Amino acid sequence: MPSLLCIAHRGAMGHAPENTLAAFRKALELGAPAIELDVYAVDGELLVFHDDRLERTTNGRGRLQDQALSGLRALDAGEGERIPTLAEVCELIAGRSLLNIELKGAGTAAPVTAFLQALLAQPGCRWHKSQFLLSSFNHRELQQAAMLDPELALGALCYGLPLDDARFASDLKAVTVNPGHDMLDRRFVEDAHARGLLVCAYTVNEVDELARMAALAVDGVFCNYPERVLNAFDQPDTRHGWRGLAGTDPQPDGRGLMLRYP
Ligand code: G3P
Ligand code: MG
Repeated sequence: MPSLLCIAHRGAMGHAPENTLAAFRKALELGAPAIELDVYAVDGELLVFHDDRLERTTNGRGRLQDQALSGLRALDAGEGERIPTLAEVCELIAGRSLLNIELKGAGTAAPVTAFLQALLAQPGCRWHKSQFLLSSFNHRELQQAAMLDPELALGALCYGLPLDDARFASDLKAVTVNPGHDMLDRRFVEDAHARGLLVCAYTVNEVDELARMAALAVDGVFCNYPERVLNAFDQPDTRHGWRGLAGTDPQPDGRGLMLRYP
């Protein structure tokens, strides 16, 4: 079987309300080796949520960032689930998969890097730094994250096809470039690979599109139904984290590559 990394999109959002603990539990149950979520910083807390408004996925109304944290935490995010904090999701997953934290809200780079540093410093922490990928469409946030913690792996998201292909991602010193699947073509994938980047395409749910991605030699896909990827494609060895998948040493002195799996 060809290899295609399965990244469970917003948890396994095809099976449970997106970006909720139920969706992350389902992704783990299905055996997803990588999980993606979206974060905003609201009222001093990092919340796992996709939209800038509440209406589509909750029983609330209005802009997420205009609300008080207590009100947001009381909302129904689907099937009785609550909007989780990033800390709650990290506690649930506990290093059992790679985690892609998409910086969705402006001003998330600083609190997320601080959160990860504190998490990784906790005694008994089940995570290894190499398991985290910070991604964003907001490349200024990625640049700031890189300044705050150069060891964190970055994923550069984009819509469409830039004129100079994946150059923006190598300029950011990203580990992955994450384009939409619909316009993705061979030229872009070859350019990304020539730059040493992994290509992870979003959001690929249909079997024929998964096959097209594999034929283009795409490395990973964000999918709402992880089992569709897992049933049809081999999974790469994720024990060395995101940079390990890209074949690049995460640490200048080569330390700390092996993950501490439970
Ligand atoms: O990170 C991949 C994908 O999640 C990007 O788009 O809108 O689903 O966050 P979106
Ligand atoms: Mg996302």
